[in-house]
Amino acid sequence: MAKILGVGNVTLDIVNIVECYPQEDSEQRAASQRICRGGNTANTLVVLSQLGHQCSWAGVLADEPDAKRICADFDHYHIDYSPAFHVTNGKVPTSYITSNQRNGSRTIVHVRDLPEYSATYFSELALCDYDWLHFEGRNVVEVKKMLEYVDIMYPAIPISLEVEKQRDGIEQLFNYPDILIFSRAYVEQCGYFEATPFLMEMRKLYQANHMVCAWGDQGAYAIDEEGNSIHSPAHPVSQIVETLGAGDTFNAALINAYIQGEPLDAALYQACELAAYKCGINSFEFVLNSGKAQDKS
Ligand code: FRU
Repeated sequence: MAKILGVGNVTLDIVNIVECYPQEDSEQRAASQRICRGGNTANTLVVLSQLGHQCSWAGVLADEPDAKRICADFDHYHIDYSPAFHVTNGKVPTSYITSNQRNGSRTIVHVRDLPEYSATYFSELALCDYDWLHFEGRNVVEVKKMLEYVDIMYPAIPISLEVEKQRDGIEQLFNYPDILIFSRAYVEQCGYFEATPFLMEMRKLYQANHMVCAWGDQGAYAIDEEGNSIHSPAHPVSQIVETLGAGDTFNAALINAYIQGEPLDAALYQACELAAYKCGINSFEFVLNSGKAQDKS
């Protein structure tokens, strides 16, 4: 069991499950709806907690009624959110998600109007308590200060960074983490059609030990510290139910494998396996059922 701090976003997800993806300017009735907590880092922590780790979340929480649902979910998964920064005016970031039953795709429209978590607040946390720090690659200016701070004050704590989208100056973050986890969308935004050439190029430019990229139904790719490229194929999913949060689950399983001391190829395999499992269900209450939960007692 490790103590993990995740710094990133939490959201309210309003998920409309539809039989097929709607045409623009059309009307259709949803097959069902669920409203739940979401957000990349929060999702990752919820999975890590079910894998037996003690997880804390640092981000911004708006004190408004929808935050109650988020805190209740954090409580349910034993996520400590005492590092959160509270704002009294504002709305929890909300994602309006169309989940297509036909192919499991998820289309997200995200509304956010909150300040970002600041490095000043971060530097007041008792970071020596943690064995692992995971960051979402957003809010580049502040996250860079956080990474610099950890680099100077706590150089022994391993760091993972999720790079999901192009954001101005995001490359400034790439020299600090031990593991860089790129999304396929980011790689494609950079003009690459395949992960390995992209990862090779990143390795020339930045010094993270490991660089990883999940590639949907083609599995995942990585480059280790010696420059070897590794591929793990996707695990079969008998019926794809929903891909929402599969990447966040992949990240959690990867971090878990590293903490267990697994080599990169095994970590990649396990991450693909758990991400595939997530695609077969429509919640995060799953590790317990997949037989992978650890006994925390
Ligand atoms: C899934 C997710 C959702 C959230 C959105 C934020 O990866 O974290 O839970 O609404 O992405 O971008």
